[in-house]
Amino acid sequence: MKKRLWMAGITLVTGLAIAPFLTKAADPPTAPIKETQVLMRAKLSSSQNVLEGLLSEDFRLIGHAAKQMKRISEAAEWPRARDAVYEHYATEFRRQCSKLEHLASQRNHEGASFTYLQMTTTCIDCHNYIREGWRMADAPDGGVQLIPAELPN
Ligand code: HEC
Repeated sequence: MKKRLWMAGITLVTGLAIAPFLTKAADPPTAPIKETQVLMRAKLSSSQNVLEGLLSEDFRLIGHAAKQMKRISEAAEWPRARDAVYEHYATEFRRQCSKLEHLASQRNHEGASFTYLQMTTTCIDCHNYIREGWRMADAPDGGVQLIPAELPN
């Protein structure tokens, strides 16, 4: 019995000694989450709500989520170099949000489904454009800015 208690004690002490290392390894990355990331995550969950609304023919959910996405898109004014292509995607995205909201109010399932697919393409297109042509860089003032992938000649 005494031996068992000893063993239990040793296991406990070793466990306690090792625990901090184990939890440290499992810690999430400590990079601070930026406001823009929170906004974009919210956009992602709203777009999932649209899909849910389409699957269950819940037009209120579709309309509400479309409105949310448009608001987020209008709010997402982080520091960046403006260029015509980016502006095009942003304008197109907002137009599609409005269209989706309108179609939901008309209970037009087919139209809303089609617009949702087009909108998802705009998400991907804008992201591809940013990733391929430009990349985010830390600006000296602590914000972010877009820099060209290729330097001008
Ligand atoms: C007009 C361009 C544009 C459109 C359209 C767009 N995004 Fe983004 N998205 C961005 C930019 C720029 C970033 C990088 C923001 C940053 O890191 O500061 C980003 C980042 C993100 C992120 C990553 C956030 C993180 O945790 O780092 C997610 C998720 C995201 N967008 C989802 C979406 C979804 C879903 C849609 C469509 C419903 C969408 N975006 C449409 C420009 C766009």
